[in-house]
Amino acid sequence: MLRANAMTPANGPVYCDKPVRQFALAAVLWGVVGMLVGVFIAAQLAWPELGYGIPWLSYGRLRPLHTNAVIFAFGGCALFATSYHVVQRTCQAPLFAPWLASFTFWGWQIVIVAAAISLPLGYTSGKEYAELEWPIDVLIALVWVSYAIVFFGTIGMRKVRHIYVANWFFGGFILAVALLHIVNSAAMPATFWKSYSAYAGVQDAMVQWWYGHNAVGFFLTAGFLGMMYYYIPKQVGRPVYSYRLSIVHFWALIFTYMWAGPHHLHYTALPDWVQSTGMVFSLILLAPSWGGMINGIMTLSGAWHKLRSDPILRFLIVSLSFYGMSTFEGPMMSIKTVNALSHYTDWTVGHVHAGALGWVGLISMGSLYYLIPRMYGREQMYSVKAIEVHFWMSTIGIVLYIAAMWIAGVMQGLMWRSINPDGTLTYTFVESVKATWPFYAVRLLGGLLYLAGMVLMAWNVVKTVMVGRALPAPIPTAVHA
Ligand code: HEM
Ligand code: HEM
Repeated sequence: MLRANAMTPANGPVYCDKPVRQFALAAVLWGVVGMLVGVFIAAQLAWPELGYGIPWLSYGRLRPLHTNAVIFAFGGCALFATSYHVVQRTCQAPLFAPWLASFTFWGWQIVIVAAAISLPLGYTSGKEYAELEWPIDVLIALVWVSYAIVFFGTIGMRKVRHIYVANWFFGGFILAVALLHIVNSAAMPATFWKSYSAYAGVQDAMVQWWYGHNAVGFFLTAGFLGMMYYYIPKQVGRPVYSYRLSIVHFWALIFTYMWAGPHHLHYTALPDWVQSTGMVFSLILLAPSWGGMINGIMTLSGAWHKLRSDPILRFLIVSLSFYGMSTFEGPMMSIKTVNALSHYTDWTVGHVHAGALGWVGLISMGSLYYLIPRMYGREQMYSVKAIEVHFWMSTIGIVLYIAAMWIAGVMQGLMWRSINPDGTLTYTFVESVKATWPFYAVRLLGGLLYLAGMVLMAWNVVKTVMVGRALPAPIPTAVHA
């Protein structure tokens, strides 16, 4: 079970890296699968007949399969891999309870496979990003509590007094996701595959979007900021720009995120003051988000030239510019009058994918490119040229995807609200769908490029694991801060 990759007993602790390797490879595999489903549903939006009338190929069933696969399978496995890697190195201690870490791997894979079967069959709780039915929810809770025990147990066994900031972000993410999942999934089972939410009406909506927005804040943001605070300094070879700012960043971010959820429910039955509270906290959120982004990017100061020659660093730094872009756009969209235009349109989908493809995707890929060769005792990835090509494919893919959705979204919003002098609508809904078609085609092209980059990464990873050149000696680990 224990295998020393990074340090030998002669110069330090023997790390438990088997779960890191397993999760890293699983992240790459599920990335390809989840994005393939994304490309398929993008094609269905352009050519709806692509479902061939087969129920399990229908858009309504495959869309949640896509979101679950990319967020929880791809993103989740990347988070498990990197947090297990980082916590050991920064605590100078092996994983606490390696058997439990192994359970988290297999348990999480069972959750993913159960989702991949049950969602296309049409089993769903109907809550976005929490669609899985109650038996799978129970397994998720068990895996997550085990994850918390392994992670915090390792922190408890640390050999250094200080707890490095990346662990604060990973720890915050683990605790918050446990809380969100357990509260939002509370339900009364009716049969083995059907349950009813414990909440009703507007309370149900409020709990769901408290969960939904914090899934963004903690699952899609805090954990990945943990990656940022470890892998950027490591790849640049410099300490974090401002350690003080990183601590302010942590506390400000986790406090503010918790209140912003109501911006998903503007102009609904939710009391108006709750909507406005959500809007105000979303606007405040710009400050910690940008503080963190600046801290990450400025870590490069004095070493900007490295961006020219290091494609892994480019993944990590460009991810931050997309993070900055989506965390500027989000607060703007939370303003009620702006939301009146953007809500229900493809502008939201553009915003989501600026964050998802640009931030979550690129930071995960950069971190995995750093991690995988080290985990297999390789000098570097099998092909550095392929990393470079991957970077450009994904960056061009993102730009095509989000630009198409922004234009389509604003156009849809304007068409829907356009009124003739006699008070009738200027455009029918179908006219807005027809006008959107070219943008769906461009989004599909962008998605295909992004997916092709991910396939290239999978090839590079397989080659690195199978035939990469082994390192002559163990890699030194003295890292952080
Ligand atoms: C090849 C890459 C991808 C393609 C082509 C793609 C395509 C799509 C499509 C067509 C939708 C449905 C949009 C709609 O309902 O109008 C969607 C939704 C979504 N995707 Fe992706 N996607 C990709 C990658 C990702 C990744 C990597 C993530 C997350 C890490 C992600 C997260 C989401 C989310 C959260 C939604 C729901 C958006 C909402 O409800 O507004 N996607 N995607
Ligand atoms: C300061 C940070 C952010 C704020 C204030 C914010 C705000 C918003 C707002 C106002 C919406 C539209 C709600 C609606 O009209 O229904 C939205 C949707 C969304 N955002 Fe953000 N956003 C932020 C950052 C991010 C990031 C970094 C990501 C991804 C990594 C992200 C992912 C999403 C998703 C998935 C949705 C769609 C939810 C759905 O309807 O299914 N957001 N966000």
